[in-house]
Amino acid sequence: MTGDTVTGLLAEIAAIGADRVRGGYSRPVFSTAEHDLRAWYLAQAAKRGLRVDTDRNGVIWAWWPEGTGVDAAAAKAVVTGSHLDSVPGGGAFDGPLGVASALVAVDLLRARGVRPLCPFALAVFPEEEGSRFGVACLGSRLLTGTIDPDRARSLTDLNGDTFAEVAARNGLDPRFVGTDPESVARLGTFVELHVEQGRGLIDAQQSVGIGSAVLGHGRWRLSVSGEGNHAGTTLMADRKDPMVAAARLVVLVRDTARAHPQARATVGRLQPVPGGTNVIASRVDLWLDARHMDDAVTASVVAEIYAGAELIAAEEGCTVTLTEESLSATVHFDPALRDRLAVVLPGAPVLDTGAGHDAAILSGFVSTAMLFVRNPSGISHSPEEYVEDSDAEAGAAALADALQALLVP
Ligand code: GLV
Ligand code: MN
Ligand code: MN
Ligand code: MN
Repeated sequence: MTGDTVTGLLAEIAAIGADRVRGGYSRPVFSTAEHDLRAWYLAQAAKRGLRVDTDRNGVIWAWWPEGTGVDAAAAKAVVTGSHLDSVPGGGAFDGPLGVASALVAVDLLRARGVRPLCPFALAVFPEEEGSRFGVACLGSRLLTGTIDPDRARSLTDLNGDTFAEVAARNGLDPRFVGTDPESVARLGTFVELHVEQGRGLIDAQQSVGIGSAVLGHGRWRLSVSGEGNHAGTTLMADRKDPMVAAARLVVLVRDTARAHPQARATVGRLQPVPGGTNVIASRVDLWLDARHMDDAVTASVVAEIYAGAELIAAEEGCTVTLTEESLSATVHFDPALRDRLAVVLPGAPVLDTGAGHDAAILSGFVSTAMLFVRNPSGISHSPEEYVEDSDAEAGAAALADALQALLVP
């Protein structure tokens, strides 16, 4: 036993990537902060004697080395884990809670004398948030072949550096990123523990819940082009200002989503080009995030937004284009696994979520489940995200219970 607690492990990384400007944490993939988190994680895996292997896509696997039964080599692996990267100015728990809980679950399983009858690993996936290269769950998408590696290589960050360039600077060979069928074929079950990003567990007055589904979601870039010019010399009547069109688009996005019950649509990021106080922008890029349990509704919401955007752009003397950057269908986790976890964790409510996860990508390939841990603020992707110490430890214990049932069926 290491004596570690989830809260203690999170305290060890509390200073890494703290964002003094935005508040909270900014831990983009392959940043110094994320590198330091990975180093911390490798040390934690080593401390537990786990056999670490970072694959061609930068997924860190930490394998339980001992005590497997006779059929272990032939059996498919049970895997748990999450991610260490964050959104800009995010909370302390989105990702790291699942990673720290996995480490503590290893300790608990050892303390209980569990001897897995199949291979068992922890996994940490890079670029879950898509905060740097724009496509969420990039690591699990590459692993499973859910993104074309050429497209992944050419994704760029805000500095214009490509994923290929940045990956190469961080020890990966970009020629070899992409699906790893052998690695995927080894996997049997994936269970991701995650901080809840809504109010389901607050309302249910429970520490831990079981995930049932992830809303379909996608990201689109709306580029509004107008005419860049001087803020002082251009008369108001002469302007083709894409910023004005963009402002109207933000309202259109909200109103369109409101017209479809349970739809969510957000513009959380907008970039004027070139972006100067005394410059009328020549172009504004807006990123649209749209989600709904019914994929057809998501598609309608986006189509309506684009139709409205064309009208608004024309009224402002501008033009607009829409580019899909990623799209994930609604995912229902394996009902048999969910029911099994419900037996192991009696009374745990079953919840769906509007947040995306690597578990949702993996569920197309392996039996997948999620556990959620109560977040008393009900807020996420914000410094306000929170987990009580006792709930964090209850989450790790629940994860250990779930894993035990899977490792020693
Ligand atoms: C990631 O957390 C997402 O749901 O966008
Ligand atoms: Mn997450
Ligand atoms: Mn997140
Ligand atoms: Mn997520």
